Amino acid sequence: MIKLKSSSSLSGEIIVPSDKSISHRAALLNSIARGKSKILNYSDGEDCLSTLSVLKKLGVKINLIPKSNSYELEIESEGLNSLSSPKNKLFAGNSGTTTRLLSGILSFSNFNSILLGDDSLNSRPMKRIIDPLIMMGANIKSNNNCTPIEFGPSQLNGINYDMSVASAQVKSCIILATLGAKSKSVITQPALSRDHTERMLMSMNSDISINKNEITIHPSEIDSVDIEVPGDISSASFWIVAALIHPKGNVILRNVGINPLRTGILEVLIKMGGKIEIFNKREIANEPVADLKVTHSDLNGVEIKGEMIPKLIDEIPILIVASTVAKGKTTIKDASELRVKETDRLFAMSEFLKLSDIKHNLFDDGIEIDGNSNFIGGTFESFNDHRISMAIAISSIISDKETIINNHEVASVSYKQFWNDLDKLKLDN
Ligand code: S3P
Repeated sequence: MIKLKSSSSLSGEIIVPSDKSISHRAALLNSIARGKSKILNYSDGEDCLSTLSVLKKLGVKINLIPKSNSYELEIESEGLNSLSSPKNKLFAGNSGTTTRLLSGILSFSNFNSILLGDDSLNSRPMKRIIDPLIMMGANIKSNNNCTPIEFGPSQLNGINYDMSVASAQVKSCIILATLGAKSKSVITQPALSRDHTERMLMSMNSDISINKNEITIHPSEIDSVDIEVPGDISSASFWIVAALIHPKGNVILRNVGINPLRTGILEVLIKMGGKIEIFNKREIANEPVADLKVTHSDLNGVEIKGEMIPKLIDEIPILIVASTVAKGKTTIKDASELRVKETDRLFAMSEFLKLSDIKHNLFDDGIEIDGNSNFIGGTFESFNDHRISMAIAISSIISDKETIINNHEVASVSYKQFWNDLDKLKLDN
């Protein structure tokens, strides 16, 4: 539990923590790639550590060197079929990305394994990966389309697959399974989602091509690659909104990944009137990166829907915080995926708004917030979800009274230093 008070200032500079999605992929892909690799700035969040612990149980040689706020990794692998039979069940903790991406790899491995997670993960939908993997010939048993999932040895074939959800995790699962299959897969996405897997595979000499919403991937060994992981725009989004809504907000964020399929948060906040300067653009590990300067701005309500949703799917809780203080209504539609994240994030944010006396309407696939409101403080649940905990924490910087968050520590799933960074920005620099 944490008690937070509003602050008289919100300014300073943050080096954004390592990107969670890219960290998972850097470790998973290099574990099945031929050769040695070095990964710099690997995330120290619990989800990414779950990926490493599972890979170690599968016999991957990983040397983990602690650095300040990240890890350096050295990985050595002999390629696609070098993983070995685990002695125990593989525990993925809270991490959907570990589970869904690794399932693609375990499906073509020649041993038995069982993959499971914590209570939240074990209740998340896995049919979306089990269906295509079974179509490919995978030998899978599940608990009613949830984890624990049991994998047996099998020989996979590629598929032509029309995805029904715009999910980078599902897409990546099929791509990884195809690497170890006998024939190519053609995957069609209903809308574009983050393409970190595709970008990384291109730098690993794989045979992958992309044509608009269609990805063609051929089975092949891949070559290891050294990767420096950029900062996470999803973690940066908390400070972006904090700086915009605080009357004295003035924050510089260094090393923010600005992959165009992740920058929906910037597009929407700029459209709402947010002053966000993007500078020092560069490229790291085949991914665009920049620094951001964000200053307090009067925001206006906005409508967010359709193809924009996958580009900011993880940022909707913090966008709801921004919408509350914006002038006018904000409507979020087509976001039913939020119901099956670490918690039902639409319900969780609606509970927060209800307890805060903020007028809103909750729909099956979205939410409408009236705006022109202020936060009154109170006692709130994190619902054991890192992004809910951090979003509520940001509301506290301008709340009338104290904000108490139960089980706030869950933020460390993606952002271990979050509370320290919050204290740092609240100090009047
Ligand atoms: C992720 C993809 C998204 C996102 C999750 C990380 C990834 O999930 O919500 O936090 O690393 O591929 P979906 O692709 O299932 O929407």
